[in-house]
Amino acid sequence: MLITLPDILSADDLATARHLLTQATWADGRDSAGPQARTVKNNQQLPHDSAAATAIRQMVLAGLNRSALFFSAALPLRIFTPRVNRYGGAANTYGNHIDNAIRLQALDGSGTGHVRTDVSCTVFLNDPGEYDGGELTVSDTYGTRGVKLPAGHAVLYPGTSLHQVTPVTRGQRLACFFWVQSMVRSDEQRRLLFDLDMNLLALRQRHGESEETTRLTGTYHNLLRMWAET
Ligand code: NI
Repeated sequence: MLITLPDILSADDLATARHLLTQATWADGRDSAGPQARTVKNNQQLPHDSAAATAIRQMVLAGLNRSALFFSAALPLRIFTPRVNRYGGAANTYGNHIDNAIRLQALDGSGTGHVRTDVSCTVFLNDPGEYDGGELTVSDTYGTRGVKLPAGHAVLYPGTSLHQVTPVTRGQRLACFFWVQSMVRSDEQRRLLFDLDMNLLALRQRHGESEETTRLTGTYHNLLRMWAET
């Protein structure tokens, strides 16, 4: 399931992010890639603890918190701390790869925790008109789709998919990315729940609450109870 989340970042957020990024110092993106991905990855990332990375991920996490669509589509249990990357110049592409299934990260208190990468997310930090190429290409059982979204929009796609970022041949592509461990591991089950939820929303908007919407909401929650791990 591939879903667009509009306006995860506001115009103010984007202006702040762009200002921070003009002053940022970038590092080699290979630092955070697994062995296979490392051979095809050629981009740059902000050092994880830099002021710019910290501020941008706070804005992204706040934006996700406001998004009912994100919750319904991803059913998040854990979020891997978002990172910020740049494609352009000599470091301009990320060839076909599958993300590592399990990521390890430092926890807020102490120690480390695992995040299973069920869902991948990219939040675009600049507009497609600012660069050529740089298309996120996602291949799954339904075929291959290319994604390039306006600044502030995000795309969710299954962590199980083969994907790449095609070479940026003009300008630079700025984005924030992260993974979600979902309460529902299966992409197929998540899709069924999402479809049910979206159609219930549409039915309520058209007809108001009815006995049928109440009962179908019960069905939604009973499926979630059956499939969710918490
Ligand atoms: Ni990837």
